[in-house]
Amino acid sequence: MKKRLLVTGGVGYIGSHTVVELMNAGYDVVIVDNLNNSSISILDQIFEIAGQKPEFRELDLCEEAKVAQFVKDNPSISGVIHFAAHKAVGESVQNPLKYYRNNFFSILNLLTAFEGRKVNFVFSSSCTVYGQPTQLPVTENAPVQKAESPYGNTKQVAEEILAEVAAANTNYNIISLRYFNPVGAHESALIGELPIGVPQNLVPFITQSAIGKRGPITVFGDDYNTPDGSCIRDYIHVVDLAKAHIAALKRQEQDKMMSKYEVFNVGTGKGSSVLEAITTFEAATGVKLNYVIGPRRQGDIEQVWGDVAKASSELNWEAQLGLPEMMRSAWAWENYISNKKFN
Ligand code: UD1
Repeated sequence: MKKRLLVTGGVGYIGSHTVVELMNAGYDVVIVDNLNNSSISILDQIFEIAGQKPEFRELDLCEEAKVAQFVKDNPSISGVIHFAAHKAVGESVQNPLKYYRNNFFSILNLLTAFEGRKVNFVFSSSCTVYGQPTQLPVTENAPVQKAESPYGNTKQVAEEILAEVAAANTNYNIISLRYFNPVGAHESALIGELPIGVPQNLVPFITQSAIGKRGPITVFGDDYNTPDGSCIRDYIHVVDLAKAHIAALKRQEQDKMMSKYEVFNVGTGKGSSVLEAITTFEAATGVKLNYVIGPRRQGDIEQVWGDVAKASSELNWEAQLGLPEMMRSAWAWENYISNKKFN
């Protein structure tokens, strides 16, 4: 029989790519999403790619009684992948309560609703928990540093909550995946990132600038202590990232976890600078970009990339796709959405 999984935030950017991979891998998926930062029409896109539609329930995870009822009504759910969260760093600084309320109530309501049930839980964490590491590539053992933003703090504290809940409650198998910088889109160009307003993240800004929706890109600082002076990140293709969730679930299902709570870096293990991202986009797409060098962005760290040996040896997962493919697919998606309206 197919295993049934709950995917929260399943019509969002990373969620939708993961739902496709889960269905391809033979899972039965039920999505819960409040459509706060996503579009219901992504369900049709998922159908077009995977040939099946996941079950969908519009629900705000902050509504405790409704979450409890939903979980009670779905006794066959054997695993949860929890994506649903607010994620804009700048907005979290402006409105910390919005972030603390949403991100904490959601995870607490979910964990409470599943209490007493045997369930596998995979959490979307972030390399933001490391701050600026002193050693690169950064391993999972590097110290977690004080968060730069309320958003970052919600990831850190959620990880602590999960570790404590797993230690106290033997029914839970919990894995936190610390994502590096997810970019790119599905090769079909039918799903991808749908930023609201002016993109804050680099790759959506690049593609919107290239298509003429925005002016030149501003490179936030070229005076960092890096080979070309711009910041370095570990960009990971969203489809590779989606597949890491399946690897995590398999580990849980096959009882391979060494403890009830584990964390894994999910990146490529390779750092690329902002200027390299720009030139790689140009080479991969043949489209010229306009950019200007601007001041540093407040709160940015200089450089980070992940040590991904643990994911390779324990999850048997490695990123397959490089920066050119990330850029090509992001560009194909930008072209696709330029002619389409999502509701
Ligand atoms: C950001 C968040 C991080 C979050 C991640 C999710 C911050 C400080 N951090 O990571 O917590 O987990 O998004 O995807 O916002 N850049 C430019 N020009 C631009 C946009 C970005 O030069 O117009 C540079 C940035 O300075 C950075 C790199 O591009 O060096 C990547 O930026 P971005 O895509 O925003 O990701 P992060 O800042 O790494």
